[in-house]
Amino acid sequence: MKISRKEKNSYWMPYTDNRWFKKNPKLLDSAKGMYYKTPTGDSILDAVAGLWCVNAGHCREKIVKAVQKQVEKMDYGLSFQMGHGLAFEFANKLVELLPYNLNHVFFSNSGSEAVDSALKISLAYHQARGSKGKTKFIGRARGYHGSGFGGTSVGGIVANRNQYPNLLHGVVHLPSTHIPEKNSFSFGQPKYGDYKADELIDIINFHGKDSIAAVIVEPVAGSTGVLVPPLGYLEKLRKICTTNDILLIFDEVITGFGRLGDSFAASRFKVFPDLITMAKGITNATVPMGAVGVTSEIYNILYRTHKKGIELFHGYTYSGHPLACAAGLATLETYEEEELFKRAKSLEKYFGDAAHSLSDLNMVQDIRNIGLVAGIELSNRTKSPITLGRDVFEKCFEKGVMVRFTGNTIAISPPLIISKKEIDQIFSTLKKSIREVF
Ligand SMILES: Cc1ncc(COP(=O)(O)O)c(C=O)c1O
Repeated sequence: MKISRKEKNSYWMPYTDNRWFKKNPKLLDSAKGMYYKTPTGDSILDAVAGLWCVNAGHCREKIVKAVQKQVEKMDYGLSFQMGHGLAFEFANKLVELLPYNLNHVFFSNSGSEAVDSALKISLAYHQARGSKGKTKFIGRARGYHGSGFGGTSVGGIVANRNQYPNLLHGVVHLPSTHIPEKNSFSFGQPKYGDYKADELIDIINFHGKDSIAAVIVEPVAGSTGVLVPPLGYLEKLRKICTTNDILLIFDEVITGFGRLGDSFAASRFKVFPDLITMAKGITNATVPMGAVGVTSEIYNILYRTHKKGIELFHGYTYSGHPLACAAGLATLETYEEEELFKRAKSLEKYFGDAAHSLSDLNMVQDIRNIGLVAGIELSNRTKSPITLGRDVFEKCFEKGVMVRFTGNTIAISPPLIISKKEIDQIFSTLKKSIREVF
């Protein structure tokens, strides 16, 4: 299949250098298991689970069939003042998977909407309790929380903010946890840096705890290039938030559903936030969906305060969409039947060792890993430094492996069904490709 010039112009691709894409379009045509196929029939090993989302591998029969069955039965059912059984069933299954105190689920259609929902729920919660001044949000430098106004505002990737001079007001950022001079080439959680959480105390002292609604962080920052939290850091954040009556939101859009070898990062790190945002692996990416897990404390306050009428003025036409719920239920069953979270845990060491085997390349500046996710950061090169990550991506693609790049960092986050042989293929291809582009 070829795309015409007019078609190329019609589609404005997201987060893409559209000029570069149009010169040499890379198209995908079909997918199965660990592989994509291009329109010319080439197989591409998917080393990033789509966009960190296809955790059970592509086109899983059980999920596909569940969606097919549902679309024939009821294509759409509204969620305002009406319901359908699948949304309740799926919410309940998610509650069983979430840490024990997160007993309620609010549905959205993407991670960005999940983040905006979590921020709004935090505000509504403090208003309902009478803490009217608690309106500020704390994000973190290098954080990614999607593309909505809320998520962009609390996000900390500078390029994503630069074009938008009028974001949310009342947002302050913690420093990132990245300390390359101490932590380079850490396997798993780095040793140094729990003190970075202390900056939250400085922010609270400066702004006043009565002005702050919530802190939002990714437990492991993904899109910025895989930053694993230093030992003790998340625990400290939790403690400081609790002491100061500030809600803690974990954005688990990437880390949820087995990426770190557990249902959620919160369970792996045993640090429990007040809200968890999720998306991506929630439906194995078969149908778009996002959600927010909320504690009973938050839910009950809103529920009790608004004794009559709507307790939360928020929602989406497609909240709890039947196709997404059908896909989600079949996805959770697949994770469970194939014990994919356990599988990710059991492969963590092998995967981490394979990633760290690239440390003998002198252009590799840092390697970071946890669960089935790794970031390989390259040093600048003299020729066209701006396109370094992209050049590696293109070389890998030519050799039949799809990786992801952010700046100079290559991210690997394969479906959890990956074999050891495929892990070896990913990192040997990456090694060759890095050598070739320098
Ligand atoms: C941590 C995090 N939050 C939010 C989002 C946004 O999700 P979506 O692209 O589904 O809106 C992403 C997407 O990569 C993410 O990684």
